[in-house]
Amino acid sequence: MLEELSLLHTTTLQELTHANSLDELETIRVKTLGKKGTLTQILRGLGQMEPTARSVLGTRANLFKEEFAAALGMRTEQLKQTQLAKRLEREWLDISLPGRPRSVGTLHPVTRCQNEIIAIFTAMGFPPASGPEVESDWHNFEALNIPPDHPAREMHDTFYLPPGPDGNKRVLRTHTSPVQIRVMEGQQPPLRAIAPGRVFRCDSDLTHTPMFHQVEGFMVDEGVHFGHLKGLLESFLMHFFARPLPVRFRPSFFPFTEPSAEVDMGCLFCDGQGCRVCKKTGWLEVLGCGLIHPNVLANVGIDRERYSGFAFGMGVERLAMLKYGFGDLRALFENDVRFLARHG
Ligand code: FA5
Ligand code: MG
Repeated sequence: MLEELSLLHTTTLQELTHANSLDELETIRVKTLGKKGTLTQILRGLGQMEPTARSVLGTRANLFKEEFAAALGMRTEQLKQTQLAKRLEREWLDISLPGRPRSVGTLHPVTRCQNEIIAIFTAMGFPPASGPEVESDWHNFEALNIPPDHPAREMHDTFYLPPGPDGNKRVLRTHTSPVQIRVMEGQQPPLRAIAPGRVFRCDSDLTHTPMFHQVEGFMVDEGVHFGHLKGLLESFLMHFFARPLPVRFRPSFFPFTEPSAEVDMGCLFCDGQGCRVCKKTGWLEVLGCGLIHPNVLANVGIDRERYSGFAFGMGVERLAMLKYGFGDLRALFENDVRFLARHG
């Protein structure tokens, strides 16, 4: 029996040393110490032995059991370490590799300019208002003192639409001035508002695109005169460009204002010398304005004897062009991200 135990001791410990996986270790454990394991059977047989032999064999067998447990524990730990090392090797990650930069978007230059214009006028007491882009002929033209077939309609290269469900004539709005009508229709003076938005005209060259943005502004109250308009616009341009630039008010004509003016800024692409962008004039038109025509006030039920008002409509793309210094307005809508990032 002692020899058998000694042999078992040697082979089992050797097997443990050579085992190469946790599964193999488990097989050895079951074979040795499981219910029918070799060592289990020896230990079980001790009861039937006579005392002296039992004591000798029992001591050895228990020592072996302890030794086996310790060796098994050690080998298990070693194999786990090896497995972990292999996994780390396999799943190796190069954390020194620089990350892929995420490109962060910027606001479109037109959106930025529009937001700045809104902020300046809001601070001066003009709350924002809005109206539809598909507009009735009445709001876009007639209420603004432009009757059907009037030659003034030719100033706007209008996109006409089929009539709406109510049979009314419709257009893509050619300017933001119809929002004046919409605000004045529902309220009595004193009134002030600005109306930013998209407008549409069949037009395309260096300084014209078929879709562009305007910001309309107007004020109606007792005693409003041209000096108010001029002061407001000059102060706006000072804030917007944050530097003094040549500005001129040029007499002009709009059916819905009297007197009317257009505001030009010195062309910064040629320092006023005359170039392609300013069509050799040295000036670039940025807005139209004037005192609201009494017929317009009457059209929306405002007392034209008691009240007067001013209105203006500025081209956001033109202002952006001068602020950021690029010579072709159409670049704003070509979606070249390098251009947009430079001016965004
Ligand atoms: C108007 O649209 C008038 N409604 C402005 C107005 C409002 C006058 C209130 C009086 C009172 P005009 O057609 O000039 O006016 O256009 C106004 C501005 O829009 C121009 O000065 C210019 O800056 C800009 N603009 C006009 N057409 C284009 C276009 N095709 N592309 C880009 N900007 C344009
Ligand atoms: Mg004009």
